Amino acid sequence: MIILEARGLKYAYPDGTVAVQDLNLEIKKGKKISFVGQNGSGKSTLFLLLNGTLKPAEGEVLFHGVPFKYDSKSLRDIRKSIGIVFQNSDDQIFAPTVYQDVAFGPANLGYSKEKVDACVQQALEYVGLSRLKDKPPHHLSGGQKKRVAIAGIMAMEPEVIILDEPLSNLDPVGADEIIELLNEFNHFGSTIIISTHDVDLAYRWSDYVFLLSNSKIIGQGTPSDVFKEPELLKKAGLRQPTTLEIYHEIERRGLAYGRNSPKTIPELVNTLKPLDLMWVDVPPRVREGDSLNIGVMYGEYATQSPYEAINATVLHIHPNGRAIVELKRKGIKAGGVLIYDTDNYSLSEIKQILKEGEIAFVGAMGKKSKTLAEKDGIRLDVSSGVIDKSILMALCGKRCLILTAGGMVDHASKRIKEYVETSGIEFTVGVVNREEGCAWLEETEGSTEMLKM
Ligand SMILES: Nc1ncnc2c1ncn2[C@@H]1O[C@H](COP(=O)(O)OP(=O)(O)OP(=O)(O)O)[C@@H](O)[C@H]1O
Ligand SMILES: [Mg+2]
Repeated sequence: MIILEARGLKYAYPDGTVAVQDLNLEIKKGKKISFVGQNGSGKSTLFLLLNGTLKPAEGEVLFHGVPFKYDSKSLRDIRKSIGIVFQNSDDQIFAPTVYQDVAFGPANLGYSKEKVDACVQQALEYVGLSRLKDKPPHHLSGGQKKRVAIAGIMAMEPEVIILDEPLSNLDPVGADEIIELLNEFNHFGSTIIISTHDVDLAYRWSDYVFLLSNSKIIGQGTPSDVFKEPELLKKAGLRQPTTLEIYHEIERRGLAYGRNSPKTIPELVNTLKPLDLMWVDVPPRVREGDSLNIGVMYGEYATQSPYEAINATVLHIHPNGRAIVELKRKGIKAGGVLIYDTDNYSLSEIKQILKEGEIAFVGAMGKKSKTLAEKDGIRLDVSSGVIDKSILMALCGKRCLILTAGGMVDHASKRIKEYVETSGIEFTVGVVNREEGCAWLEETEGSTEMLKM
């Protein structure tokens, strides 16, 4: 379903600068969209047109198929449904305190005092600014101001959230947190539109990408399609995303196989052709033709755990005792990822899993789970990019626990299972405290013989 549409849009500033022209676009409901283009390409101007802050000189913008009208009541309705976070937070923030600033939108929507309070508290908690709620916004840092502006829009729960350069001014962990927040909103149905110069972000995060150059859209499509066109990127003054660049280099050296547009580090790792042959030290009793289990998984030794052995056949034994073995990839076992649904939270159960589950790595996704972990002193190894990092750890034979809740549980489980399927590397994935259970914890320890390489 198309939620937002522009037809034949043109906008020129009073000094005659044409900032947007010949612009047609359709945005589907519930998607994550990026507009990418260099400075001055027209992103901010387009965004102001898309929520009615600017009125086009030509063409029209449609919301749910209905053209925008520019009388003050219609504009109020549009802005209730299509929230915008400006590129420059100082254009957005004006109230005497952070709390009042975030409350401005919901109060204007006519919410009751209690509802305004609940929305504001939640939005501030989401962006991690609760403790600054009484500060004057102009005394905050650039990144903190950005968070106030984002909280102000989120508190109104618009159907479409437009964010002009949402990550500028944010430190890397703060940026990851905002992206996770946007994902959470998207997960519950909001359409999210961002502008960015960051091709890595646009490539990794978006469902659909528009390339802007010189006030026009010069390319659009899925990130894999848009970013594989070097000429198009050059025309837009952009570069290829780093993961793609590395992948192409791997490919040029004949080391790649499988999927050709990896977006995440686990996907990139998975494009590496696995080794077929390897030199290993073998004990004297081993003969040519013997079958062995080698305790290594993707370059990591696994001297104790039986979960990550690779079966291999000894092809040749050198007089110095080292042997060439042929690795059999089928049936490789890596570690595993266990997902804990914090909607059924029990601290004692988590403690038991951490104690008995040989968990090497714990991550949390979503504000609720992070807050629970913090409150109960559960040590988190990572709080952003949790799914990818868990996959990487599982590939190295480690077991991970992800704390999350609501729809994020199925989302995480689905993504990791998809990875297992496409990679052919078997590792356990399960939701631990739901009815379907997870057999992993009951798994008995095997007795795989390990050889040191
Ligand atoms: N108020 C204004 N008056 C006149 N020209 C303007 C005004 N604001 C922007 N422009 C011009 O419109 C064009 C598009 O600017 P816009 O801010 O939309 O680009 P952008 O893609 O958001 O750039 P950036 O990446 O730097 O944020 C530029 O040529 C800019 O100089
Ligand atoms: Mg801009």
